[in-house]
Amino acid sequence: MLTAGRMTVRGSPVRKMREPGAEVRAGKRCGINAEGKEAQEEAALQETGNIMEYDTVALDEEQGAVVIIDQTLLPGRMERICLRTAEEIWNAIYLLKVRGAPAIGVTAALGIYLLAKGIRTEDFEVFYKEFVTYKEYLDSARPTAVNLSWALKRMERVVLEKGREQGQPVEEIRQALRQEALEIREEDIRVCHQIGEYGLTLVQPGDGILTHCNAGSLATVRYGTATAPIYLGQERGYRFHVFADETRPLLQGARLTAFELSKAGVDVTLICDNMSGSVMAKGMVQAVFVGCDRVAANGDTANKIGTSVVAMVAKYYRVPVYVCAPTSTIDLDTPNGASIRIEERPAAEVTDMWYREPMAPEGVKVYNPAFDVTDHELIAGIVTEYGIARAPFGESLGQIMEKAERATYNGIRK
Ligand code: MRU
Repeated sequence: MLTAGRMTVRGSPVRKMREPGAEVRAGKRCGINAEGKEAQEEAALQETGNIMEYDTVALDEEQGAVVIIDQTLLPGRMERICLRTAEEIWNAIYLLKVRGAPAIGVTAALGIYLLAKGIRTEDFEVFYKEFVTYKEYLDSARPTAVNLSWALKRMERVVLEKGREQGQPVEEIRQALRQEALEIREEDIRVCHQIGEYGLTLVQPGDGILTHCNAGSLATVRYGTATAPIYLGQERGYRFHVFADETRPLLQGARLTAFELSKAGVDVTLICDNMSGSVMAKGMVQAVFVGCDRVAANGDTANKIGTSVVAMVAKYYRVPVYVCAPTSTIDLDTPNGASIRIEERPAAEVTDMWYREPMAPEGVKVYNPAFDVTDHELIAGIVTEYGIARAPFGESLGQIMEKAERATYNGIRK
């Protein structure tokens, strides 16, 4: 476990390893009042364990909090925590209490709304300056998933449009921010559902599907991206056989994907990361569906470390690899995968985390990149809410983004 988070405007906040047992300020448990709605919901959640019945990220105005499921406790414990301060939000994102590109974006949008609500001034320029301080701070929590800066930029646009262009009072800006944050959240549900519809056209009932990391319900608000076709297929009797890579070092596949799919009644088999070749060689996998954190203009995609290896193995066995990505994950300003900044995380995640005893010699050099880039040549299609982009991606992604622009006020967006 890690602790991190200092309020800095520019540059990275100080990050240091957490001493075992030390207090981490990344949100407090919600629903402490046993009579409260949240406590009741939490009890129900504990009982059914079906994540699909609960949103991963939500706004609780009464408590003045962004409410998240603490994903670091899964699958052992289902607990929701309330994030109220900038530091709590930053830490929750950095510590992966909330993780997955879309879920991070939604958390940041709801979080900055709450922080903006707390800015005590009616002077626009003073308000804007503080807003930008919060924005830059939250944006520094994780670098690879573009959804974080995408959501924060979208919130900033609201401030500038309402305040600087239209000269509206600060109170109106706060209201507009609330609306935008809730819209970003609702949009995520619609977008993932639509990705599910497109994804489902790529597979047949009874197919074996392999996935890596967790691009599931827990990584979004409700359906997931790579899991959306699986959940829709489940509703429609497709009876898929899903293989979930455990996903070293943080085990998102084992702890989260295997957990949420099995709770939802999906036939899921957990495999170690080095077993994908084995199941593909046996003809047990007809398609690979993965999520992603950033799609570059040429179709290279960054996703959880190990995805590129799965894609290379899949190419050898002629299994198509589909990357599921909302258009909020497409970054046409990044020309290719080499330009994507890859987050590096602490060595302890590899050597100590999850083990009773350290599993590596003390002081050994460790390299722990959290993501890798899958070359566009290994990708059969990028499944978005506006259709499936195919090679040449330079063209098809541009077309998809144009559709997204046009649809902003009458398509999926609003
Ligand atoms: O480090 P994580 O757990 O945030 O990494 C998550 C992934 O790599 C997901 O596959 C990606 O964010 C897509 S989530 C729909």
